[in-house]
Amino acid sequence: MKYLIANWKMNSIDISKWKNDFENHHKEFKDNLEIIVCPNFIDLTECSEKFTYLSIGAQDVSSHREGSFTGQISAKQLLKATNKLKYCIVGHSEVRHKGDSNFLVREKSEQLINNKIEPILCIGEDKESLGKGERESFLLHQLNSYFENGSCPKLIAYEPIWAIGIGRAADQKNIKEALEIISKFLKYKKLEKIPLLYGGSVSAENIEEIMALSYLSGCLVGNSSLDGKEFARIAKKF
Ligand code: PGA
Repeated sequence: MKYLIANWKMNSIDISKWKNDFENHHKEFKDNLEIIVCPNFIDLTECSEKFTYLSIGAQDVSSHREGSFTGQISAKQLLKATNKLKYCIVGHSEVRHKGDSNFLVREKSEQLINNKIEPILCIGEDKESLGKGERESFLLHQLNSYFENGSCPKLIAYEPIWAIGIGRAADQKNIKEALEIISKFLKYKKLEKIPLLYGGSVSAENIEEIMALSYLSGCLVGNSSLDGKEFARIAKKF
């Protein structure tokens, strides 16, 4: 099975236009490709009504079940927006940057699992760690903290922070090395069945080269998912 995720982040999308553009350029749906759209909280309901043939994911969730947490949204409330909600991203670097620790990422994941929503775990090193040759310890620290309590994500996306939103994806060598580190860890934990994805400046131009890598089961796409036509061009190459 392959996975293609659209992470719309906080961008304003005309959902009807996106749907038309996407459908006009992507007509053949394959059974072995699951396409997941992750809009902001407000657009979850509309997306789940309009995209009956796609899966729906949220971009974030509270680590708490209920209570005095101003501005937060619980896993149960996400399901109120749409009971079709299947996934939720946790540990995205933009959310970690805002303060989410590895501990919080795991807590959020547990809330999701308790509500039968599948976590999509994002991990990835920053430029400094890469430069210092500390990528392996960085990734293993994120992984060890997450898996400490037996939490298990449905998908893991390797998203090197230095390749996100810059228009140039990480090179094959770097992606391969990181995927090997993650795969080795998962094998040791007997969790090698968890599919691995790549994210960071994926586009219709580089998707084939990226997906040529073994270990890879899909991609998480930010900027190039904002336009329905561009995203359809990526989907067609799977
Ligand atoms: P990008 O974003 O495709 O714009 O680099 C990917 C992500 O942050 O998930």
